[in-house]
Amino acid sequence: MKKRNIAVISGGDSGEHEISIKSGREVSKAIDQERYNVYPLVIRGKDWYYKSPEHKKNFINKNDFSLTIEGERILFDVVFNAIHGTPGEDGKLQGYFDMLKIPYTSCNHEVSALTFHKGFCNQTVRSFALDDLKIADSILLVGDDLFDEKEIIDRIGLPCFVKAVKSGSSVGVYKAKKPEDIPITIEAAFEVCDEIMIEKFVKGRELTCGVSDFGKIIKTWPLAEIISKREFFDFTAKYDATLNQEIIPAPVSEELSRRIKNISKILYHKLRCEGIVRFDYIVTESEDIYFLEVNTVPGMTNESIVPKMVQSEGISLKDFYTMLIENALK
Ligand SMILES: Nc1ncnc2c1ncn2[C@@H]1O[C@H](COP(=O)(O)OP(=O)(O)O)[C@@H](O)[C@H]1O
Ligand SMILES: [Mg+2]
Repeated sequence: MKKRNIAVISGGDSGEHEISIKSGREVSKAIDQERYNVYPLVIRGKDWYYKSPEHKKNFINKNDFSLTIEGERILFDVVFNAIHGTPGEDGKLQGYFDMLKIPYTSCNHEVSALTFHKGFCNQTVRSFALDDLKIADSILLVGDDLFDEKEIIDRIGLPCFVKAVKSGSSVGVYKAKKPEDIPITIEAAFEVCDEIMIEKFVKGRELTCGVSDFGKIIKTWPLAEIISKREFFDFTAKYDATLNQEIIPAPVSEELSRRIKNISKILYHKLRCEGIVRFDYIVTESEDIYFLEVNTVPGMTNESIVPKMVQSEGISLKDFYTMLIENALK
């Protein structure tokens, strides 16, 4: 069988650029090299390139996403998407690859765009009216919308979360505790994105569920509990191993695990997800399950949650990535 050419794309244009580079590097290493020709590519702004082992940059021809290395033109059979944030998690590249008819390992352009926008995603998930899933109340502000602090506090309460709606890694996410924090955090979130949301605070444990499809089967991976040593799971806590702890499988009752996995499967199906997706929740003391967000290109570094979830079931990353690639090729 002819070896397939795999483009592992990483980088991107968001605050998650560096972490995506790391995801891409580690995915590229783990992919089965006997089965595939692996090309790690960096995409940043208009610079799309492959860096040869000699550190020479070979730029991608964007007309057909091809690469020419020493006179040889390489076309890709599939794209392994490791770009967190824009343009890999918000549907932009998906639209481009769809037009070129190149398959990829993540959700399609509309699902990616919808889920990347926390406000639209919440609205959609709310519309599913799932009995066992709650969504915290929130207010969406766009651009120069005028807002009334008192109205916000009356409706949402304090503390609350102020978030840039199209972001990740907690960039542009703030906890407002006092009335004075409201205008400051709103302004700070607007620095990151021109749409923001103010969301009710949910007190509880953070649990996350990885889901992937293999043919007709929707598989849920063991749950993870995320414990932050900071006020919440902010950027600093996410990337400093001494400030966060992940427990896999999460120490929860079988019943709670079953409920969360069941919800995650339904969301994966109804949102029409593809590839590996992580659904995040906050579970209150009385075990109400609140939807937090969907990550359609979750972290893939060796320290990231998904690789740990997969390996906790005794499955190698090599086999897991082969499954993702073969599934995208179908
Ligand atoms: N409504 C909320 N109640 C409590 N904590 C929250 C809430 N929203 C966000 N957080 C905290 O902020 C973190 C980042 O928020 P999230 O919406 O997941 O953004 P990101 O996409 O940047 O990860 C969460 O992991 C959680 O610790
Ligand atoms: Mg999150």
